[in-house]
Amino acid sequence: MSMSHRARSTRLPSTALALLLQAAALQATAAGLTHSGEDIVNTGGHLYQAKCAVCHGASGKGDGPYANLLTARPSDLTLISRRNDGEFPLWKIYETISANEMVPAHGVRDMPIWGQELADEAATLGMNEKSYIRGRIFSMIAYLLSIQQP
Ligand code: HEC
Repeated sequence: MSMSHRARSTRLPSTALALLLQAAALQATAAGLTHSGEDIVNTGGHLYQAKCAVCHGASGKGDGPYANLLTARPSDLTLISRRNDGEFPLWKIYETISANEMVPAHGVRDMPIWGQELADEAATLGMNEKSYIRGRIFSMIAYLLSIQQP
C-alpha cells in the first residue's frame, strides 16, 4: 500500500462573506424560507440597532450612549477587518457574539446580555432556540461585514 494519497489542505472560500451567506442561506432553506443576501443584511441591521448600538453606536464606531459608562471602550465594529490585516475573522467574531469568547461587557458566557432576549423570542415564535439564535447571529455578522471600512 502506498502512502501517496496525501491529505490536501482545503482552501477557504475566497471571502468570508461567501461562506457566511452560504451558511445563512442553508439555515433559511432549512426553515423553509428563502432570503436574499440583502434581506439577511437588513435583518442583521435591525438586530444590531436593537441589541448592540447602545454601546457600539448606531454607525458601529463604538460611540453608543452607554459607551461612557463602561470601563472598556466598545470596539469600533466598522474596523474589524482593518484591525485584522484586511481579513474579517468570521469565526472569531461568531465566537465573540455567541459568547464562547468572552468580552466582559457582553455579560457572562452562559448568557450574553442579548441571549435571554433571543431565547425568549425563539420561544414566542415556537422555534428551536439554538437554530434561531444561530441564524440571528449570522445575520448580525452579515450586517457587520456590510459595514466594514477598507
Ligand atoms: C453593554 C455594552 C455592549 C453591548 C450591548 C454590546 N457590546 Fe460588543 N463590546 C463591548 C465592549 C466594551 C467591547 C470591547 C471589549 C474589550 O475591548 O475588552 C466589545 C467588543 C465587541 C466585539 C469584539 C470586536 C473585535 O474586534 O474583536 C464584537 C465583535 C462585538 N463587541 C459585537 C457586539 C454585537 C454584535 C453586539 C450586539 C449583539 C454587541 N457587541 C453588544 C460592549 C458591548
